[in-house]
Amino acid sequence: MFKKLTLAAFVALGLAGGAHAAGGEAHVEDFAFSFEGPFGTWDQNQLQRGLKVYTEVCSACHGLRYVPLRDLKALGYSEEQVIAYSANFEVFDAELDDFRPAIPTDHFPAVTSAGAPDLSMMAKARAGFHGPYGLGINQMFKGMGGPEYIASLLSGYTGEEKEEAGSILYENHAFPGGWISMAPPLYGEDVDFDDGHSNDLHHEAQDLAAFLMWTAEPKLMARREAGFIGVFFLVVLTALLYLVNKRLWAPIKRKPTA
Ligand code: HEC
Repeated sequence: MFKKLTLAAFVALGLAGGAHAAGGEAHVEDFAFSFEGPFGTWDQNQLQRGLKVYTEVCSACHGLRYVPLRDLKALGYSEEQVIAYSANFEVFDAELDDFRPAIPTDHFPAVTSAGAPDLSMMAKARAGFHGPYGLGINQMFKGMGGPEYIASLLSGYTGEEKEEAGSILYENHAFPGGWISMAPPLYGEDVDFDDGHSNDLHHEAQDLAAFLMWTAEPKLMARREAGFIGVFFLVVLTALLYLVNKRLWAPIKRKPTA
């Protein structure tokens, strides 16, 4: 039984290693995001910039179907701003049997016309595993995962193209396999940021990646906070239990003196 288990473990490790080797040429850069690490937080301005990149560039092909528009208030927008922003999108209303401008209670539209995947959960779907096997410690502290991959993908084009089976493929260092069918969506200076932040390719890519991390995990900070409160509670409880234990056993443990 034990032998079988170890054999299975070795096979699993071998397979994982093999898969890794196959995609070995993909290169993911380690960007430093503000939300990484146990004390990281969102940079609201960055999320707003990322939303702008998504709106002006990516939304032509990619949807965010799982993200309710009203959640944008978390990025620091007022009710009126969210209403105005929502009205830019058209959604299909089954009751009207027609399209109408979106309102904050709608989600971002799903976009399927370009055959591009939905981006709502992409930052989590592409979170690689870069820590020691079975622990993920590195991932927790360095955050080498989905947002890194997305930012690397957007800035990983080499400029090479090739045609294969009638479609054009673009060489990209970060994409597993090295060739992706998405034309480079960003070149730098694609959008003007309202806060005067640099709009070179690397900054745009990082801002967009941060925004997609937020769409995939909007409650990241709340979850972390709950974790800290939980740990604090457990520390206090441990101390109390230790003292109670001492006191309860004190009469028994005390050596008889006479
Ligand atoms: C002209 C249409 C188009 C635009 C604009 C576009 N994409 Fe794409 N995107 C695609 C297509 C098509 C694919 C599928 C590519 C493939 O699998 O080869 C894709 C795939 C992706 C993927 C998934 C890669 C993977 O690992 O499977 C990500 C992430 C992505 N796009 C992000 C973006 C971002 C961010 C933007 C805006 C800056 C953007 N795209 C703009 C068409 C587009």
